[in-house]
Order: sequence, then C-alpha cells, then structure tokens
Amino acid sequence: MADTGNLIELCAKDDVAEGEVIKVEHEDLELAVYHVEGQFYVTDNACTHGPGELSDGDLEGHVIECDFHQGKFDIRDGSIVAPPCIVKLKTYKVVPHDTAVVIEAPDE
Ligand code: FES
Repeated sequence: MADTGNLIELCAKDDVAEGEVIKVEHEDLELAVYHVEGQFYVTDNACTHGPGELSDGDLEGHVIECDFHQGKFDIRDGSIVAPPCIVKLKTYKVVPHDTAVVIEAPDE
C-alpha cells in the first residue's frame, strides 16, 4: 500500500467491517487492523506469546483473544488482559483520514 513520508496507508476503512480484524502486510510489518465502534486500531499481528496470529483471533469490544492459547490483549494500548501472555502487544498510532487506515511509521 501507499507509503508517504512517515505515514503508511494500510487499507481502506471499508476493508474492515465493524467488529472485525484483518491482517495487513506492509514491507516487513505484519499488522492486525481492527474496527471497533467506528474507530480503527492497529497492532502487530503476531501474538507476543507464541505462533498465534491475532487476525485469526476473536475480537470482543476492545479485547482480542489469541486463538492459540486464549491469551488476551487490549487493542487500544496493547496491555495484557489474560494470561498466558506476559509481553505487551505493540500498537501503532492511527492518523485521522477520511477513507483509509493510516498509521505513523514506527521508528527504525
Ligand atoms: S500464541 Fe497467543 S496466547 Fe499463546
């Protein structure tokens, strides 16, 4: 997808239905994009606990449950909601845009 300066356009907002999560890859980033109550959130797609992919998990409100060992994270800040996860999930700052989900590029 498009890459303008330090902003990265990941997908169209319409690509992510309300209450859903999708996987989006951009260069070496593999991300999960969530749509909750009209807001979009972006985290790493890889669970910090093991091989689970969070885009395969169950999203309930602002909590994503990994389908591998049922660990849970809050997608707003990456905090751990349920074990066995012990490492926070990386989150990305979503920049306002009319039609696209855009994030600030992470620091190298
Ligand atoms: S791999 Fe996600 S909870 Fe274990």
